[in-house]
Amino acid sequence: MTEKTQSIHGQWSSRFAFILAATGSAVGLGNIWKFPYITGENGGGAFVMVYLLCIAVLGIPIMIAEITLGRRGRQSPINTMQTLSEESGVDPRWQYVGWAGMIAGFLILAYYSVIAGWSMAYIVKAFFGNFINSDAEEIQRLFENLMANPVQQIFWHTAFMMATMYFVMQGVQGGLEKAVRFLMPALFVILILLVGYAMSTGAYEQGMNFLFNPDFSKIDADAVLTAMGHAFFTLSLGMGAIMAYGSYLPNHVSIAKTTFFIAGADTVVALLAGIAIFPLVFANNLEASAGPGLIFQTLPLAFGHMSGGWLFGLLFFILLFFAALSSSISLIEPAVAWLVENKNIERHQACVWSGAACWALGVGVVFSFNIWADLKLFDKNLFELLDYLTANLMLPLGGMAIAVFAGWMMKTQHAEQELELPAEGFQAWRFLIKYVSPAAVFLVFLHVLGVL
Ligand code: PFF
Repeated sequence: MTEKTQSIHGQWSSRFAFILAATGSAVGLGNIWKFPYITGENGGGAFVMVYLLCIAVLGIPIMIAEITLGRRGRQSPINTMQTLSEESGVDPRWQYVGWAGMIAGFLILAYYSVIAGWSMAYIVKAFFGNFINSDAEEIQRLFENLMANPVQQIFWHTAFMMATMYFVMQGVQGGLEKAVRFLMPALFVILILLVGYAMSTGAYEQGMNFLFNPDFSKIDADAVLTAMGHAFFTLSLGMGAIMAYGSYLPNHVSIAKTTFFIAGADTVVALLAGIAIFPLVFANNLEASAGPGLIFQTLPLAFGHMSGGWLFGLLFFILLFFAALSSSISLIEPAVAWLVENKNIERHQACVWSGAACWALGVGVVFSFNIWADLKLFDKNLFELLDYLTANLMLPLGGMAIAVFAGWMMKTQHAEQELELPAEGFQAWRFLIKYVSPAAVFLVFLHVLGVL
C-alpha cells in the first residue's frame, strides 16, 4: 500500500519550492529572537556548542526521518503515522505521536503569534523613526511600554493571526511560496549588514568571545535541555510540521541533500543573529540575560545610529515578520490538514476554527507580560510555561518517538526506497536514528531528572 504519489492537499511545484517552504518554516523567530536571548540567559559559548551538537546528531537525522515518513504517508501527520504503522504491522497507537505534535503546534503558535505581533509593532516604530538617535535607555523604555500595554499587543497578535490564517487558506502553492523566494535572501543580507555594524561597535571581540568561547561551568542540566529543545524548535522538528510539508514533496527529490541545505541555512541565520546582537549588548552595557526582549532592546540601537538606519530598521522588522509568518503557517498546517481529512470540512473553515482557538490562548499569553505577570505555575508565567512545555518537553519527546519509529518500526526497505541514498549514507543515517538520536534525548532527560 501507500502507492499514493500525491497528497489530497496538493504538492510542491518543485524541489526548490519545498526547500523554500521548509527553510521558511525553520528560519523564524526561533533564529533571530529566541536563539540570542536563550544564549544570553545560559551563559554563551558552552550553550552554543551543545546546541550545534544537537543540530548535528539529532536535528539532521530526525529531519530526514520526518520528511521520509511524511512523503511515504502523504497525509496529515496523524493519519500518516496511522497508515505507516499499519503498513509496518505495528501498534496503531503510534498515531498519538501525530496527535501530540498537532497539540504542540497549536500551543507554540499561541505565543509565537504574540511575539510576531511585537515585530509588527516594531515595523511601525521603525517607520516613524522612533529609534533615531535614541540611547539604550530610551530603546528599553519603548519596549517596556509595549509590554505594559495589553491592548496594543492584542491588536498586533490579532493582525498576525489573521495574516497566518490568510496564507494557510491558500494551501501549499499559495502566495507564500513565491514571497519566501526573495524574502529569505533579503533577510540574510540585512543580517550581514548588522554584523558589519556590530564589528564597528568596539565590543565585537567581546561578543564573539561570549558566543564561541565555551565555559562549561556555566551550563547545568536545564541549560542542556534548553539547547536540545531549541535544536528541535529551530528546525521545526518533533511535531509533524516538517512531516506535513514532506507529505507534499514530489517523489525522487533527494531528502538528505535537501535536509543539509535547510539545517545549514537555519544554523547560519541563528549564528549571524547572535554575532550581530552580542557586541551591541556589551558595547551598551546591556544585560545579555535580558530575556525575550533582547533583540527589541538591542537592534534598534544599531538602526538608530547607523547610516541608512531608518530604512534598514524598517526592512529588518518587515523581514522578521515574514520569517515568522512562513514559520507560523507550518505550525498550524498539521491541524488544518487533519481537520480537512477527517472532519470533512473545507480548508478555509478548518483555518478559521483552529486559528480562533489559538488566538484565544494567545490573549492569555499577552496578559502574562503584564496583568498576569505574577500568575505563576511551577514558577513560570503562561508564556514561559507554554515555551517550556513545548520546546523543552514535547518537541524532544516527539522527535525521539519519530526517531524510534523510523529506526525500529518502519521496514528498512521502505526507508531505503524513500531515501535513495548510497549504502554508506543510508547506514550512517540508520545508525544515528536507531541508536544515537533516541539515546541522546533519553540521556538528557535522565540528566534533568537528576538520575545521571
Ligand atoms: N522553526 C521555527 C523558528 O525557528 O522560528 C519555529 C517552529 C515552526 C517550530 C514550526 C516548530 C514548528 F513546527
